[in-house]
Amino acid sequence: MIKRTHNCGQLRAGDTGSKVSLCGWVDSYRDHGNLVFIDLRDRYGITQLVFNPETQPEMHRLSRQLRCEWVLGASGTVRMRGEGLTNPKLPTGEIEVLIDQLEVLNTAKTPPFELDNAGSVDEELRLKHRYIDLRRPEMQNKLEVRHRVTKITRDFYDSEGFWEIETPFLGKSTPEGARDFLVPSRLCIGEFYALPQSPQLFKQVLMISGIDRYFQIVRCFRDEDPRADRQAEFTQIDVEMSFVDSDDVIDVNERLVARIFKEILGIDVKVPIRRMSYRQAMDDYGIDRPDLRFDMKLKNISEIAAQSQFKVFIDTVGRGGVVKGFCAPGGGKFSRSDIEKTFTNFAADYGAKGLAWFKVVADEQAKKADLASSIAKFFSPQQKQQIIETFDAKPNDLILLIADTMDAANKALAPLRIKLAKELDMIDENVYEFVWIVDFPLFEWNEKDNRYDSLHHPFTAPVPQDLEKLDTDPASIRSQAYDIVVNGSEIGGGSVRIHQPDKQAKVFKLLNISDTQAQERFGFFLQALKYGAPPHGGIAFGLDRLVMLLTRTDNIRDVIAFPKTQKGQCLLTDAPSEVEQSQLDDLNLRTQTHH
Ligand code: AMO
Ligand code: AMP
Repeated sequence: MIKRTHNCGQLRAGDTGSKVSLCGWVDSYRDHGNLVFIDLRDRYGITQLVFNPETQPEMHRLSRQLRCEWVLGASGTVRMRGEGLTNPKLPTGEIEVLIDQLEVLNTAKTPPFELDNAGSVDEELRLKHRYIDLRRPEMQNKLEVRHRVTKITRDFYDSEGFWEIETPFLGKSTPEGARDFLVPSRLCIGEFYALPQSPQLFKQVLMISGIDRYFQIVRCFRDEDPRADRQAEFTQIDVEMSFVDSDDVIDVNERLVARIFKEILGIDVKVPIRRMSYRQAMDDYGIDRPDLRFDMKLKNISEIAAQSQFKVFIDTVGRGGVVKGFCAPGGGKFSRSDIEKTFTNFAADYGAKGLAWFKVVADEQAKKADLASSIAKFFSPQQKQQIIETFDAKPNDLILLIADTMDAANKALAPLRIKLAKELDMIDENVYEFVWIVDFPLFEWNEKDNRYDSLHHPFTAPVPQDLEKLDTDPASIRSQAYDIVVNGSEIGGGSVRIHQPDKQAKVFKLLNISDTQAQERFGFFLQALKYGAPPHGGIAFGLDRLVMLLTRTDNIRDVIAFPKTQKGQCLLTDAPSEVEQSQLDDLNLRTQTHH
């Protein structure tokens, strides 16, 4: 077998005259009658091979049988390409290799899609033939970035005194609140392991064990419906530290983020990264993961709206709701049907019952701006001026408003704000805007089940000053949790934890977790807390999401070598699949077919 002396991205003009051997895949094939040109590809690049019928008739004859994706070994001499034939797009574009020895290491069936064309083929086809998809330089680049991020991460935490410690996959149900993947036990019939939604309790136990600084690059499993930035099986950079407050956790971890962005993209992330309270994020952006690459803040005009003659607004505010919206600069260019069809339907998809709008127009006579819309007649001239002032609106802007409960208005306005920014080209794709969201509420009220839920998870510590409100006004307690958000994507989140057993018990009570339930689910942990738990806190980054940002893709499957589809299937291996009856018998399980 021909052994390579170089890879396909390596040879340059300076190698002219060298005898070399290359191995790789046929990327493209051009038969110019006399000369045959093959682009040979491997992970490192592409090199042009030439076959000449006059000097090497045997090799030339053989080369004409080659097809795309065949695997070759080839030896020959490096030479400069002819005048005007260099390819400035390739690092090897000045040279080619005149082949005198060729070995077909393997043939290949015609690929189900062309590599160059993969962007436009059905993703399912790519996933089914993932080995071909992953030959694409674009995909290999993503895998390389992912590798480099994990390498930088390990080196960074090591240099900061953290130990990487593995925690079990076969475990007990964990508290992140998604649905568990269960694994039946053969040895304890009728019992199940749960795959971890995160190593949360193990890492806290490691702090109680005196490990002081822990990290792990770890798979987490959550049986939720996958989305563009969510997989059932994803990877966290998981961290926990002892004797710290939230500033300490934020400090180390934002330095990691800065290092990663510097080393991968050459971007200087200014540390300390700015912080924003949960309240402010919700008020100004309607969401706790605001995209700060553009301004376009939400404004609450309930007071003005309540004074108007517009019934929808008056009634909504009367019921305790709000009228909230934003002003899109230059949005006046959208036609009435753009607004009333596209944007209204878009907002409706996010639950909005309607979308009110004003176009800002210039009132030439009065030399000021005015509002035009089918509902403008319900507003007095002063009210219109107040609205213009609130939004600092200019002629040719578009003001969009939703009247609803605060929560419902925010839910629709946040995505609508992004939609308008995209339509109006307000987003610079090369900019990364980081923010820590802090001062989250500890609990959120669960209307459906008539109880409080943890906003983060039940081990998150309250802000000490707010602790006295645990009995009187739980909704107003802030937590010591923090999320790191980049360009509207939550890439990580964590908190200082409760380390006193009595406080933990109290929080469980508020969450309606009974003593018996708490014992059953987390008894081992409550026990551990009683044996000298140090104050501690931590964070977990979503590695997949981080790599998505670094490689500028909005499809999480692109940064995972073997991802799952929307239905949680691996199309390459065809998992999940049925199993042998004998396997079920071993586990004492029966499947039931529903009709
Ligand atoms: P959390 O549940 O916020 O916290 O998860 C941490 C980060 O993991 C990423 N992430 C996901 N990425 C892809 N697919 C998913 N299904 C998915 N779910 C979460 C997000 C998120 O910010 N144990 C706590 C952390 C802690 O308190 O230390 C936890 O798991 O980027
Ligand atoms: P209607 O009176 O239902 O015909 O609505 C008149 C205008 O008010 C339309 O532009 C609707 O989209 C808008 N509208 C209706 N309900 C709401 C709401 N909840 N929030 C904002 N605008 C609304």
